[in-house]
Amino acid sequence: MYDKGDCLVEVLPFIKKFYSKIMVIKYGGSAMLDGALREVFSKDVSLLKYVGINPIIVHGGGPEIGDTLKKLNIESKFYQGLRITDESTMEVVVMVLAGKVNKEIVLQINKSGGKAVGISGVDAHIIKAKKKLVKDMDLGLVGDVDEVNPDILMHLSKDGYIPVVAPIGVDEGGKRYNINADSVASAIAVSLKAEKLIFLTDTDGVMDRERKLISSIRVEDVDRLINNETITGGMIPKILSAKEAILSGVKKVHIINGTRKHSLLEEIFTLSGVGTQIYGQEI
Ligand SMILES: Nc1ncnc2c1ncn2[C@@H]1O[C@H](COP(=O)(O)OP(=O)(O)OP(=O)(O)O)[C@@H](O)[C@H]1O
Ligand SMILES: [Mg+2]
Repeated sequence: MYDKGDCLVEVLPFIKKFYSKIMVIKYGGSAMLDGALREVFSKDVSLLKYVGINPIIVHGGGPEIGDTLKKLNIESKFYQGLRITDESTMEVVVMVLAGKVNKEIVLQINKSGGKAVGISGVDAHIIKAKKKLVKDMDLGLVGDVDEVNPDILMHLSKDGYIPVVAPIGVDEGGKRYNINADSVASAIAVSLKAEKLIFLTDTDGVMDRERKLISSIRVEDVDRLINNETITGGMIPKILSAKEAILSGVKKVHIINGTRKHSLLEEIFTLSGVGTQIYGQEI
């Protein structure tokens, strides 16, 4: 029989290894919809903080933005998983992400005993953005991360808080941009030299064409999986952000199922892990 005490003590090497390290966790819109799961996520994140790990949360909110746009009769259009964002869509993006979704996550983490602070990339110049340029297409106010200023995130983390970041950036002229949360999480992880970047989404990880889980992917193989359309839609910015993080020095990137209870803890505190791991030179 598996003993509870044995189980608890097994996490000791992981706590030791990750003590005081930063982990950037992207909390996906689709994985955030269920209230009970949101509670589990909040407890997991609070637990990480109390054992000495420093989680930084970056959240999405695609489904909630879509719902609100629908109510307002504004059409949603996508290009390779990115929401084409005109002025009126941008107003809704800010309202839903920085207003509703961000505060709900903060509230829930605080209810679980953590001390979360909700901010957006606009606060303290965290995310300097520039317009995203893609060939033959104007995406409007969709931005790319130009620069990250992680000072405030470091301060908050050191002082015992859990930063919760909405993926909105601002350029030098004060124009705000909607940035895919996956690339914001990746850029923040790179700027803080995070130990891990973990994407919580609504699938078990990256699936192959037979819908079987691919448990690890080399960065060199990412472009091929996009070109042969194994990876499509919202998984494209995620895998590209994962690749970018690995190439810029983040040790490990994982894509895991946020709709499975405690997948975050399983990923961090077990040897086998769950989901898809993206790796560079070595695993
Ligand atoms: N090969 C693949 N493996 C797994 N999921 C895939 C694959 N190709 C495309 N997808 C899609 O990518 C989706 C995940 O990305 P999506 O952007 O929808 O969620 P998210 O990033 O977690 O949430 P948000 O964008 O709101 O932050 C999956 O639900 C699935 O439909
Ligand atoms: Mg997404």
